[in-house]
Amino acid sequence: MTDPVRVAVIGSGPSGLYAADELSKHGGVTVDVLDRLLCPYGLLRYGVAPDHLKMKSLELTLRKVLERPEVRFLGGVELGDRLTVDDLREHYDAVVYATGSAVDRRLNIPGEDLHGSFSATEFVAWYCGHPDSEVDKFTLDAREAVVVGVGNVAVDVARILAKTAQELRVTDMPDHVLDVLDASTITDIHMVGRRGPAQAKFTTKELRELGELANADVVVDPAELVLDAAGEQVVESDKTVRRNLEALREWSQRTPEGRPRRLHVRFLHSPVGVLGNGRVEGVELERNELDGNGGVTGTGEQTTIPAQLLLRSVGYRGLPLSGVPFDERAGVIPHQQGRVHRDGATAPGEYVVGWIKRGPTGVIGTNKGDAKETVATLLSDLDELPRAPHRDPDALPSLLEQRGACVVTWAGWEAISAAEEALGVAAGRTRVKIADREALLTAAAEALRQQG
Ligand SMILES: Cc1cc2nc3c(=O)[nH]c(=O)nc-3n(C[C@H](O)[C@H](O)[C@H](O)COP(=O)(O)OP(=O)(O)OC[C@H]3O[C@@H](n4cnc5c(N)ncnc54)[C@H](O)[C@@H]3O)c2cc1C
Ligand SMILES: NC(=O)c1ccc[n+]([C@@H]2O[C@H](COP(=O)([O-])OP(=O)(O)OC[C@H]3O[C@@H](n4cnc5c(N)ncnc54)[C@H](OP(=O)(O)O)[C@@H]3O)[C@@H](O)[C@H]2O)c1
Repeated sequence: MTDPVRVAVIGSGPSGLYAADELSKHGGVTVDVLDRLLCPYGLLRYGVAPDHLKMKSLELTLRKVLERPEVRFLGGVELGDRLTVDDLREHYDAVVYATGSAVDRRLNIPGEDLHGSFSATEFVAWYCGHPDSEVDKFTLDAREAVVVGVGNVAVDVARILAKTAQELRVTDMPDHVLDVLDASTITDIHMVGRRGPAQAKFTTKELRELGELANADVVVDPAELVLDAAGEQVVESDKTVRRNLEALREWSQRTPEGRPRRLHVRFLHSPVGVLGNGRVEGVELERNELDGNGGVTGTGEQTTIPAQLLLRSVGYRGLPLSGVPFDERAGVIPHQQGRVHRDGATAPGEYVVGWIKRGPTGVIGTNKGDAKETVATLLSDLDELPRAPHRDPDALPSLLEQRGACVVTWAGWEAISAAEEALGVAAGRTRVKIADREALLTAAAEALRQQG
């Protein structure tokens, strides 16, 4: 084939970019990476905690993929809005869905929707300057906050609540976020797990940071660090769990040093209701007992944590894409080795990677091996791929513009990035994120204007 194979990757998060990396390294393939957002990098830009600067710097590695001549970024392009699967099949020989798991899971308990109760997803989107998040979504005028869940996202949001705005000025957080964090009245943060410490999902490096906070004492009740037979076994076999437990045990012996905030790490309590008249006033918990098999049973004994802010950090869920098969129960696109399962069979031409392929678990690196599998499947199909009728690379962007989309190219993104760096310089910071969609579009348009 002399004409390159044209592949569309839908989603510019880590999985989409790892897939683009693998594809573009194979000769004779060009890749368009489309994203509904104006900026690339998915959760690396809009999820990874801003104070995790080393992890954030992975953007520098991933941008090299988007800079390759075989790869093109098209931001502001949403599959399902002005763009259909049929359009994609007309313009590309293959499509890779890499749309992640964008929405939060619910607790399904009374009071969950009271004012002051939010998903961690909403809080993360707000502090990361996601353009879909309202600027004034959070006020942080609470005294006590409850974070439900003991995964790494719960650790992230608890840590951000515990830190001072001054500590977070090294990050790229938007100014309106730092202003609210600066005015925060929170004194106590309670991170609550329903099972025991041996079943917690957080990893040791992330957990340990909580014990090193300058502005908060970490508080652990030794009575909640119990293990049953299943827990003892996991501690024996799993280094992460063993190290987590070591950290938690050490903290349970600490005497609080009178720091302005306290971060309470709790176990063996399930949220059963959110109390309040119109807004959150407390979170009702039921005490659990370990069942010997890694699970828990409720004891019926209830306690209430007074709280004016609740953040539910109990995992994510994928969203169905219009015209794409979806497994409602698992919240993923069904597939075999990355080849999409449609109408009871798999056929060359549609593929899936990342969280929308395997569910919302795994660190960024996990998506690399995952993308390798999918791309290997795609490449093994190359000879059978039905060729798309429209082969002009400019045809789809033109069509999208005609339909009213504001397509942001790589040059547009570079202009946004430069505008954020300029804001940073002006504020004595490295970068200040632009959260407002219109402001992002203005920055992107300015660069294109300057290019003539
Ligand atoms: C809050 C949080 C913090 C995390 N922190 C870390 C960390 O510190 N370290 C670590 O290793 N891992 C971390 N992870 C995990 C990591 O972010 C994921 O493993 C990774 O982002 C998954 O990549 P993905 O490409 O599948 O999804 P995403 O990163 O979510 O990317 C999906 C992309 O698809 C786009 N998209 C969605 N729908 C459409 C559509 N219809 N049309 C066009 N585009 C669309 C989205 O805009 C997005 O850009 C974190 C996860 C979360 C939730
Ligand atoms: N720094 C990092 O590396 C980093 C940072 C953030 C995220 N990530 C990764 O991103 C992925 C997603 O993280 P996550 O924290 O959203 O998910 P997670 O690791 O799956 O943790 C979800 C937590 O919610 C709890 N939970 C679920 N339903 C509940 C309910 N009804 N009531 C009470 N608790 C409930 C779970 O408890 P059970 O175990 O009892 O179900 C678990 O503690 C993970 O793979 C994570 O490692 C990594």
